[in-house]
Amino acid sequence: MEKISPIGVFDSGYGGLSILKEIVQVLPGYDYLYLGDNARTPYGTRSFDIVYHYTSEAVRRLFALGCPLVILACNTASAKALRTIQQTDLPRIDVKKRVLGVIRPSVEALASYSRNRHVGILATRGTVASESYSLEIAKLYGSGEFYITQKACPMWVPLVENNELAGAGAEYFVKKYIDELFQSDPLIDTVVLGCTHYPLLRELIHRYVPQGVNVIEQGHIVADSLKDYLNRHTDMEAALSKQQTIRYLTTEQPDLFASMAGMFMGKKVEAEHTSI
Ligand code: DGL
Repeated sequence: MEKISPIGVFDSGYGGLSILKEIVQVLPGYDYLYLGDNARTPYGTRSFDIVYHYTSEAVRRLFALGCPLVILACNTASAKALRTIQQTDLPRIDVKKRVLGVIRPSVEALASYSRNRHVGILATRGTVASESYSLEIAKLYGSGEFYITQKACPMWVPLVENNELAGAGAEYFVKKYIDELFQSDPLIDTVVLGCTHYPLLRELIHRYVPQGVNVIEQGHIVADSLKDYLNRHTDMEAALSKQQTIRYLTTEQPDLFASMAGMFMGKKVEAEHTSI
């Protein structure tokens, strides 16, 4: 088989597929290699050191498989591992490789959604504790410019990973966290789904978020931001192969991954097992 140089897309499990789907729609010409660390999911409840260690291993695996560029399609990994990987790992591994995250593009998009600058961030415990959104928002817009309320939603990733997207259990936990967010700040006019798993719960989320409030999903934002990145970084663009393939790797059972991923991508998918 001819050697390809795909764009690597990484997540702790299935959530990153919500990003991959949008990226492929915006940039259909490239090759993609998705890696889900389903054997070690969830990341959202784990320590900084563990998330960094797992993410770094996954990124190295994707580099070894030929990816010149890896997207961390996971807020928890972007919050806890991206900076260390960019500053410490990349200079040691290969200065030409690149790793990008999902938080910065989401924060850049915020200004065009929120009118009153009261923003709610729904995310994993890890992302919330890292304060990455507040820090990035302060860096980009100045501190005190946005009124940020964060809410950790620890039950949502297990619901998605177990395909419990619509039952009474999902309904209870979606309503609970959204109610708690709006109790903390009833003025919120924009909610960021700051975990790539959450768009799978969008139907229920829209049912309980008050009318008129924007709900931001990251897929199209990350896809547009990647398109812009490749327009500006022509060396990276030239290094990527363009045979329009998508390959799926999981650290858990490939059959289970394939059936879940097929549902998320809206087409039949084949998956392979990999160790990292
Ligand atoms: N999808 C990941 C995120 O965006 C988190 C899932 C997990 O907890 O592993 O934060």
